Amino acid sequence: MIDLMQKIVSFTKRRGFIFPSSEIYGGFGSCYDFGPLGVEMKNNIKRAWWDEMIKKHDDIVGLDSSILMSPKVWEASGHLTAGFADELVECKKCHHRFRKDFLKKGKCPDCGGELTKARKFNLMMKTFVGPVENEAAVTYLRAETCQGIYLNFKNVLQSMRKKIPFGIAQIGKAFRNEINPRNFVYRTREFEQMEMQWFCQPKEAPKIFNYWKKERINWYLNLGIKKSNLRAREVSKDELAHYAKRAVDIEYKFPFGWKEIEGIHNRGDWDLSNHSKHSGEDLKYEGYFPHIIETSVGVDRSLFAFLCDAYTEIRGGRTKTTKAAKEVEILLNLNKSLAPIKVAVLPLVKNKPKLVKKAKDVYQMLKPQFRCQYDEVSSIGRRYRRQDEIGTIFTLTVDFESLEQNDLTIRDRDTMEQERVKIEDLIKILKKKLNEQ
Ligand code: GAP
Repeated sequence: MIDLMQKIVSFTKRRGFIFPSSEIYGGFGSCYDFGPLGVEMKNNIKRAWWDEMIKKHDDIVGLDSSILMSPKVWEASGHLTAGFADELVECKKCHHRFRKDFLKKGKCPDCGGELTKARKFNLMMKTFVGPVENEAAVTYLRAETCQGIYLNFKNVLQSMRKKIPFGIAQIGKAFRNEINPRNFVYRTREFEQMEMQWFCQPKEAPKIFNYWKKERINWYLNLGIKKSNLRAREVSKDELAHYAKRAVDIEYKFPFGWKEIEGIHNRGDWDLSNHSKHSGEDLKYEGYFPHIIETSVGVDRSLFAFLCDAYTEIRGGRTKTTKAAKEVEILLNLNKSLAPIKVAVLPLVKNKPKLVKKAKDVYQMLKPQFRCQYDEVSSIGRRYRRQDEIGTIFTLTVDFESLEQNDLTIRDRDTMEQERVKIEDLIKILKKKLNEQ
């Protein structure tokens, strides 16, 4: 399984999904850059989530709050004091530091040395605002996006003339000074979250919690995650975050085991009551603090899960031709809405100017409508494989018949079946096939 992980890491770099950050300087502390295909896929995931929240559900509105906020926010939220710290131990010999709960034995995993006693290590990323770097100028990069939602609860309520219950959704970057960032983009210090906070009457909260748990699991299944690779785990009382009354983790079976990709939290009145107390602003609604049910998922982490789930190696090749018999072909069978490239246009051969021109004309026609690629380099079989590898849904081939008939073939990534269609009908047909009508 670790082998699979290494394959996926090298695949994502080779095919332009994910690059290590600052690579020419030797990399930088578990930060990653999303390449041309990675950013398309990330945008597709964010769009799918935004549509799910804003289009599908009634009474959810969007927000884009700032990353930097008053440092008082983090005192009120409990992130500077209560629970937002991991227990850190240090090796007395090599001085490497580890999260205590990640260690299986009481020895340093790197050199076997003796470890220090555990001490609390706060995960907030500190920074300074303004020209003077003193304590008065200290603030923090947000560790979760939802705090900006609580601060704007009243603004949204009033400006949008909302009534309880309603939800606010937000997508944005968050930062945590993780002690042990690990497993590629699974745990990093800079990541993106998609969070929705549902404000409701206290007595409704348990029912709403179960509703969102079901909704969120279905979201992954509808986007193609295999049922056998997904589960919901009730978080035990002693594992609960400082703000949570109840939590369920949605977990994915990664190559390194079952791990959380999303948390559903019943935050009770923790946030609104604490912000009321610390700011002096009354955040009650009709005399009570609304309770909050939260759904919180990492964009990077879910992208990683979607990639792992779609990555398929086919020994001997998909077409089982003698040439491919010894090869391993990769198929990335991503859901249509998540695949970074929807359509590729290929001339059958590249040394026939009329074919090339026609294929380029088709590409130019499709480009404003779909994420497209044009590819004329190497044999047609190789080009099909290259497109399968990055999950392209349809590959169009312009051949000699196309010059006479003004048509081309559409090859389906999953079935490899080919169908001839007229070029004038192409946009309509592709839209229908991609469910974009
Ligand atoms: N507002 C609640 C909250 O932030 P969380 O369980 O700490 O809850 C929610 O985080 C989600 O954010 C996680 O399920 C994960 O997908 C993502 N996430 C958290 N820490 C992360 C990290 N260091 N790297 C990547 N994603 C992370």
